[in-house]
Amino acid sequence: MIDLRSDTVTQPTPEMRQAMFVAEVGDDVYRDDPTVNELERYAAEILGKEAALFVPSGHMGNQLAVMTHTRRGDEAIAGEISHVYAHEVGAAAALSGVTLHTIPFHNGMFNVEQILSAIHSDDIHETPTTLILLENALSNGRVVPIETMMSIYDLAQSKGIKVHVDGARFFNAAAALGVSVAEMARYCDSVMCCLSKGLCAPVGSILAGTKDFIEKARKNRKMLGGGMRQAGFLAAAGIVALRDMTGRLPEDHRNARYLAGRLSEIPGLTVDLDAVQINMVFFRLEWPKELLASLPERLLGKGIRINGLEDGNGRFVTHHGMGKEDIDTVVAGLKVVAESF
Ligand SMILES: Cc1ncc(COP(=O)(O)O)c(C=O)c1O
Repeated sequence: MIDLRSDTVTQPTPEMRQAMFVAEVGDDVYRDDPTVNELERYAAEILGKEAALFVPSGHMGNQLAVMTHTRRGDEAIAGEISHVYAHEVGAAAALSGVTLHTIPFHNGMFNVEQILSAIHSDDIHETPTTLILLENALSNGRVVPIETMMSIYDLAQSKGIKVHVDGARFFNAAAALGVSVAEMARYCDSVMCCLSKGLCAPVGSILAGTKDFIEKARKNRKMLGGGMRQAGFLAAAGIVALRDMTGRLPEDHRNARYLAGRLSEIPGLTVDLDAVQINMVFFRLEWPKELLASLPERLLGKGIRINGLEDGNGRFVTHHGMGKEDIDTVVAGLKVVAESF
């Protein structure tokens, strides 16, 4: 099966399975799990932060950041298409009592002036803005330039506001920018990055920041029921993800550009090649409605799995285990469907 739905479908590598098999474990709520402790130490070192916390999901990592950086009644600024706003089930409001003030993007990107104008004053009527929620890479597949991260962080610091980065694909962003994740993480107070997705670990994400912030986040994780016991089995795969899998992400990015180029051959399909910056290809398919509706099922019959297309807009994601020959199979499959109508 060629699965283009997401990089969340990746499988743990043989090295991960072996590391999980032999992992030394303990009760992590007592801080007794040597493998979790090593993952947290190693992740903090790579990200250039004082401390890190292993969390079950990216969603929980983001929400712990919201909860830990803010007080109930505060406001956080977020992009209108950000995961934390659009795909985390309203958790910022439900769990932390935080209002998300969403801002639109200009040309698919954060804009510093817009963030500035979204920050509230000290006026007695206004909600205190205490957090900016960035994303890098963005959910639209674009990468926020380091200069933009710097300007936003400068602005935030001048106003006493914290910055958290949803870095579900932080390593993809770093690879695309040609910088280290530590360089990127200099321009935020906390960062969440996923070990699953493109890095292929089966479960888990990292939240990193100052020691004090991580201790508070650890307590909040316990409050949410996220204190794990012998989590070293999962952390072992996470260590392999950080050690062995970050260096190969440019291959996924090259494959995405190859896929984007080949998709342009399909009649009725348009793809914005400039927007292909990591492992995601967004495209528009001007095909009859019935054909669009039946496309996932038709491709499934050819061993290709895709998400449904919303109003003709689609997204394909490249990842470990998908090569150029798979992409050629996908393009051939799409051409057959296009001709059959
Ligand atoms: C940008 C972004 N942030 C956060 C998440 C949440 O990660 P998880 O699925 O591990 O909760 C995702 C998941 O796809 C994501 O794409």
